[in-house]
Amino acid sequence: MTGEPWSTGVRRGPDGVVSVAGVDVHALAAEHGTPAYVLDEADLRTRARAYRRAFESAFAQIGAGVDVYYAGKAFLSVAVARWVHEEGLRVDTSTGGELAVALRAGIPGEHLGLHGNNKSTAEIARALDAGVGRIIVDSLVEIDRVADAVAARGGEPAPVMVRVTTGVHAGGHEYISTAHEDQKFGLSIATPPRPASEQVAAGPTTSADAAVNGAAVNGAAVDSGAGDSPAMCALLAVLARPELRLLGIHSHIGSQILDPSGFEVAARAVLTLRAQLAERTGVLVDEVDLGGGYGIAYLPGEVALDPDRIAKDIAASVQGSARDLGTPLPRFSIEPGRAIVGPAGLTLYTVGTVKPVRLDDGRVRTYVSIDGGMSDNIRPALYGAQYHAEVVGRLAGPETVLARVVGKHCESGDIVVHEVQLPADVRAGDLLAVAATGAYGRSMASNYNHVPRPPVVAVADGATRVLVRRETEDDLLALDQG
Ligand code: LLP
Repeated sequence: MTGEPWSTGVRRGPDGVVSVAGVDVHALAAEHGTPAYVLDEADLRTRARAYRRAFESAFAQIGAGVDVYYAGKAFLSVAVARWVHEEGLRVDTSTGGELAVALRAGIPGEHLGLHGNNKSTAEIARALDAGVGRIIVDSLVEIDRVADAVAARGGEPAPVMVRVTTGVHAGGHEYISTAHEDQKFGLSIATPPRPASEQVAAGPTTSADAAVNGAAVNGAAVDSGAGDSPAMCALLAVLARPELRLLGIHSHIGSQILDPSGFEVAARAVLTLRAQLAERTGVLVDEVDLGGGYGIAYLPGEVALDPDRIAKDIAASVQGSARDLGTPLPRFSIEPGRAIVGPAGLTLYTVGTVKPVRLDDGRVRTYVSIDGGMSDNIRPALYGAQYHAEVVGRLAGPETVLARVVGKHCESGDIVVHEVQLPADVRAGDLLAVAATGAYGRSMASNYNHVPRPPVVAVADGATRVLVRRETEDDLLALDQG
């Protein structure tokens, strides 16, 4: 039991007992209880470093700078924010809550980004207070919202990137693919056919209208006629507001991507838009962010994207695109989340019941109920995500059964592992680990059925440390006003 999908610190001893970074699962369960998210600190740090080094060295080869932002939505706590920052990464946040954690961790504002397709005025104000290095705007309305906030408070123009969609659809489930057109994120680079009735006839009232109707950029009138894409309109709208500094263009094409070509196609589209903006306005933006989405292994035999390989491929591709376009390379950034924290985590459960169920085709499926479920890992129910599980507390016989690992929640879709071979003698009291749950497990956890959320326990060099404590019934009751 070593190698993907388990973190690098996972070992199975001769007695069958599994340990993580030198701490065995019985000790973990005794000290912290189950279910528990277990995070292998060295593994996480190594992955963070590997991504930073791979991209820095590949982009240095083509003479371009690059910053790696850790996408905090995958999992964020004060300690994790510090670890990735110590490894030379910046932190990408997508809500005021994530921003609060990163600030509590002491990450300097200029190393933070704020995303979100519907940032509140309070979130924008907080980001400005913190002096975040970039606010990634996602709509024309938001451009004015950020600019108005800056105008009201005074001070330096806010550094802004515009999130665009390139039409590249990549990654696993439809809900986690974000750059095809029929979804809420970003502004399309495609020029829409616009019925005359939709065109704005009156003079501009906001910068968004200005961008649609024609805006003054760098003192020169720029006609952004009806033929412009929403992305171009947004870029012009940012340039039209003196309270904003247009830092660059952002593209995120999806998540759990295992085929690297989508990144290259999207990067070319973004660089082309950048060149078009320069031709139009004389403004060649400094930065291009290619988002996150780097896929990992969830099952034995699956192969994660290799950071060295993907960094080299993307670097070669953007170099070619920039050469074809005749524009100098910008500074790049990327935002991996899952690839940093996903494989570093596992969830430790205790088996409660085992129930054989005869299927229509005559097979028997063994339902193994654990003490957590869809409240600590919604991904199988939400996306049909596949996971791998093993009995980790003892030696098991060679006989296996077709098993389904299910939770304790009140619905039949409460499945954690759809199908896995488990030892035929799997029984109540067994410790069971599910691999690669570090990303989007705790961060998407809920209190469904008033089940308190499990702790996140870090393990390093034979010692454990609670990063996020277990929720208690008192925590839940504290919110209930009676
Ligand atoms: N940057 C942006 C703008 C994003 O929207 C995301 C993820 C990332 C970076 C990080 O993507 P990653 O490298 O982690 O794939 N809950 C889903 C994933 C949603 C991802 C949303 N955006 C899941 O459990 O698979």
